[in-house]
Amino acid sequence: MNILVTGATGFLGRAVMARLARDHAITGWGHAHTDATTRVDLRDAAAVRAALDAAPVDAVIHTAAYRDPDFCEAHPEETDRLNVGATRTLCAALPVSTQLIFISTDYVFDGERPPYTESSPRAPIQEYGRSKQRAEDLVRARPGSLIVRMPLLVGAGADFASSGFLAQILAQHLRRAKPHACDDVLVRYPTWIEDVAEALAFLLERDATGVIHMSGAEALTRYGAVRAAAQVLGLPCEHIHPSTDVVARAAPRPRDSALSTAALRALGFTRFTPFPDVVRAFMRRFPEETKHG
Ligand SMILES: NC(=O)c1ccc[n+]([C@@H]2O[C@H](COP(=O)([O-])OP(=O)(O)OC[C@H]3O[C@@H](n4cnc5c(N)ncnc54)[C@H](OP(=O)(O)O)[C@@H]3O)[C@@H](O)[C@H]2O)c1
Repeated sequence: MNILVTGATGFLGRAVMARLARDHAITGWGHAHTDATTRVDLRDAAAVRAALDAAPVDAVIHTAAYRDPDFCEAHPEETDRLNVGATRTLCAALPVSTQLIFISTDYVFDGERPPYTESSPRAPIQEYGRSKQRAEDLVRARPGSLIVRMPLLVGAGADFASSGFLAQILAQHLRRAKPHACDDVLVRYPTWIEDVAEALAFLLERDATGVIHMSGAEALTRYGAVRAAAQVLGLPCEHIHPSTDVVARAAPRPRDSALSTAALRALGFTRFTPFPDVVRAFMRRFPEETKHG
């Protein structure tokens, strides 16, 4: 198949490109960080249409979006332009025969009544989630499309500093000698990005449509993740204390937006890497960082 990945220069897009390139011809679109990818501004509908006309594809995995909830809260119009507008453009421009997989988030739920199934009512509590809900509605209305919702992704980015959750756990907590508190309220489900890429390949092959949830299995607060990572890495964490104060941020976060993966498991997908193995796999990508432990 000829597959287009939007957001190919991003955290998830890179992992998806690497996985799908094993079996398919891949085109990647990026925007500011184009290296081996084509530069297409998804906010520019004419540019999107021209790029699709020039190189038609069999399937599109649409990952590009603003995904920092605090940015989205402060910039609702700009968020709408990319997160919703680009999705509208793709839905309108793609021939009906082209499969569309849209990447969505657990933040379409309010986090008050977990776990959430694919048919649970959505009630986002911040602009990011609301933009994803509006984009989902566009994708739902397009026959032959699939929405894949996922929670916090963990993976190795282009370098250690830009590798998100686990890099933060190390830098902000485990390598900070001073006693400090760490959030023990908001429940997260850190999900290995390569499992997500594998799930997308699995769903693509099966021509899946509708909505499906992908998620890591362990429920962890940030404090819980710190403790689990400390255990795997043999690092002290007694100086880090659980806090019941939720850190105030521009965009509120759901308390526990657990995604049920029963539907994905029922399709036969089995790759849900346990968190300790995720930590080990992550550290193997950055052997130098292990020495700083
Ligand atoms: N990361 C998570 O924990 C997480 C959790 C749940 C769901 N998701 C969803 O997963 C998807 C991917 O997230 P991510 O973490 O990979 O995000 P990311 O690392 O911030 O990447 C965003 C991508 O969007 C591209 N982009 C930004 N503005 C663009 C524009 N105007 N035109 C075309 N492309 C543009 C970026 O390209 P350039 O960098 O080249 O500008 C980049 O490739 C998003 O839909 C997000 O909502 C992420």
